[in-house]
Amino acid sequence: MPVITNIQDLHAIYRRRVPRMFYDYTESGSWTEQTFRANSSDFNDILLRQRVAVDMAERSTASRMIGQDVAMPVALAPVGLTGMQSADGEIKAARAAGKFGVPYTLSTMSICSIEDVAENTDKPFWLQVYTLKDDDFMQRLFDRAKAAKCSAAVITVDLQMLGQRHKDIRNGLSAPPKLTARSVANMATKVQWGLEMLGTKRRFFGNIVGHAKGVSNPEDLTSWTNEAFDASLDWDRIRQFRKMWDGPLIIKGIIDPRDAREALNVGADAIVVSNHGGRQLDGALSSIRALPAIMDAVGDRIEVHLDSGIRSGQDVLKALAMGATGTYIGRAYIYGLGAMGEAGVTRALQVIHKELDVSMAFCGHRDIRGVDRDILMIPKDFSDRWQ
Ligand code: GLV
Repeated sequence: MPVITNIQDLHAIYRRRVPRMFYDYTESGSWTEQTFRANSSDFNDILLRQRVAVDMAERSTASRMIGQDVAMPVALAPVGLTGMQSADGEIKAARAAGKFGVPYTLSTMSICSIEDVAENTDKPFWLQVYTLKDDDFMQRLFDRAKAAKCSAAVITVDLQMLGQRHKDIRNGLSAPPKLTARSVANMATKVQWGLEMLGTKRRFFGNIVGHAKGVSNPEDLTSWTNEAFDASLDWDRIRQFRKMWDGPLIIKGIIDPRDAREALNVGADAIVVSNHGGRQLDGALSSIRALPAIMDAVGDRIEVHLDSGIRSGQDVLKALAMGATGTYIGRAYIYGLGAMGEAGVTRALQVIHKELDVSMAFCGHRDIRGVDRDILMIPKDFSDRWQ
């Protein structure tokens, strides 16, 4: 196994091993990618306050997210097309998460279906739900999640339409990949990926093909989101989904305190402060800058989680110290998956865990649940620089 010291090491291997079309899908933000970049770089504006000669023995990163025990408050975020990054990728990622003791969130846009993942793993996972116009599809999606014993539903509220990612258009992104001279030439250099992909039947959007009506070209992400997604989604509709699903509910994609209050009123158990990894509104505030105002608005009444931009355990620590009860990694584990399959996801989790654990200790804490803003140095205008 190559020496992996940090997430960037996994990224370098990932880049070599996975076809360009799927690498680009991961590494894209929308339009100019300003928000995609800010999500990560804004973490660097926050500094950690080092303490010394504090007992650092017997530490714990264990915590709880929506009442469920987690080995560390870092869940695997839903990522579309994960099964194109590595054959049966969703099953591999769910297994790695289960063994590590953190939640796995399966995307509606996954390649392996809900049933595939349930049959091939032994820990409950969370299902991320996209809101389609087709009511039967929606009811069945929640019923399928229940039958698969999913332990939470995560409704994404920031993708009624797809933000434009230029590279996906240029690459003709689809699952399975369209065979053009360019894509074939590139895939021919990804031997291991290709052999594994030939060995699996799971190469289509498993939750959609055969389940959703009125989708003329379900292989093409842009065309089926345009046709099937509900552009008219509003909070009343989300209330209907709350009735369709009686288990724990997480609402993902909140960046404004007013929307956080709406999510609270709908009866969600948690919200995820997220701008979809910078893939939707380019020019939106980074998640970490949005967090303080949302904590002020609803933090004492609902669990607040954060995703978008996390590439290290130090980033996780900063989000938790600012009040988040949980965080998610997306790209960071996809790099591991594309680089080394299940072992790569495990490695990504180990890297983040070690960075979190040791940095927490350097800040003078032994229990992640006791970490608060005292460990941070936050620029005075960090979250209210704009009017
Ligand atoms: C889907 O969620 C995407 O961002 O492509």
